[in-house]
Amino acid sequence: MNSRIYTALFAVSILVVSGSKAQQLPLNGTNQEAENMATSLKSFAPGTIWPDNNGVHINAHGGGILLHGKKYYWYGEHKIEGDAGNKAEVGVHCYSSSDLYNWKDEGIALRVSDDTASDIRKGCILERPKVVYNPHTKKYVMWFHLELFGKGYKAARTGLAVADKPAGPFTFVKSYRPNAGMIPFSPDVSGKNEQVNCRIPTNKSDSFFCRDLPGGQMARDMTVFVDDDGKAYHVFASEENHTLHIAELTNDFMGHTGKFIRVYIGHQTEAPAVFKKDGKYFMIGSGCTGWKPNAARWFSSNSIWGPWTYEGNPCLGPDAGLTYGGQSTYVLPVAGKKDAFIFMADKWVPNNAIDGRYLWLPIIFKNNKPEINWQDKWDLSVFN
Ligand code: DGJ
Repeated sequence: MNSRIYTALFAVSILVVSGSKAQQLPLNGTNQEAENMATSLKSFAPGTIWPDNNGVHINAHGGGILLHGKKYYWYGEHKIEGDAGNKAEVGVHCYSSSDLYNWKDEGIALRVSDDTASDIRKGCILERPKVVYNPHTKKYVMWFHLELFGKGYKAARTGLAVADKPAGPFTFVKSYRPNAGMIPFSPDVSGKNEQVNCRIPTNKSDSFFCRDLPGGQMARDMTVFVDDDGKAYHVFASEENHTLHIAELTNDFMGHTGKFIRVYIGHQTEAPAVFKKDGKYFMIGSGCTGWKPNAARWFSSNSIWGPWTYEGNPCLGPDAGLTYGGQSTYVLPVAGKKDAFIFMADKWVPNNAIDGRYLWLPIIFKNNKPEINWQDKWDLSVFN
């Protein structure tokens, strides 16, 4: 063993045995030392570097999870170093796992394009990708928030890509603003709050909605939720981020049916994550403060079509008012465990985007209300 390798391995072993190991793994690139460091993790350590099977910090920000067979697939924004990392220079990264602690790098599932005419041209903004599997078409369907190259956050489109295999490669299909010309669905009188009269818009949100009616509604922060009956819904921040929309997708999950509702009008909810427990729908989201954290908020409803009730902050304890420095991205039901849900959030680092951290925390239900508490370290036995 030459002395350079020895020194490297010595340094690695110091890092591995020290409590600060997780802070010091390489953020980027793979090398032999990093591979030697790959360990078998048995717990979650929110906010620390999370090494993949190559010992490289997982690069899947604003992500979501697909459970397919016995494997989980984690899709998220691949970020690069510096503030350039807030643009999509690479695409959507995919990892797989069978235990949720240890993740194998499956590579780039959707690559941004070198073609300057492409909607997903390198340098566009591509955020919060979510993948669902359609059993009818046997396709893996990815939706994401897309901002066109050089236009800041003005485009506010949703993007669609599709693949034959969970880790891709995904092929870009289209991007657009959903539900052009469609007015919200009002399930019953209690849906009154969701109605909009474009002849006389009475508030800011209604004005944005009516302005965008002909061309389609803005679609930024988003998730996709598949219900027990196999129907899928696209949930997104619309109306200049003033109001969330919950919109039904077509049976192949590749388009919008035109049926949708508006939720919590004018209150600027971002980062929606929807889940279901005992027939009841829950949603956790955030406020709207750019990359800076704010308080999480949760909602409940007996139907996907509402009415959705605002329920306050699910987080408790110190830093709960800032979601412990994070922002929601997904709520993951743990397979094989009853009432076991993981709150997934991003702790953004906008000046060095690749260094963004993941806050995964258990959701514990008390009197049918979701509660989230900070944990330095935890494992799935909390759900036993
Ligand atoms: C908050 C959103 O949740 C993120 O996905 C991203 O769009 C930032 N805003 C940009 O400031």
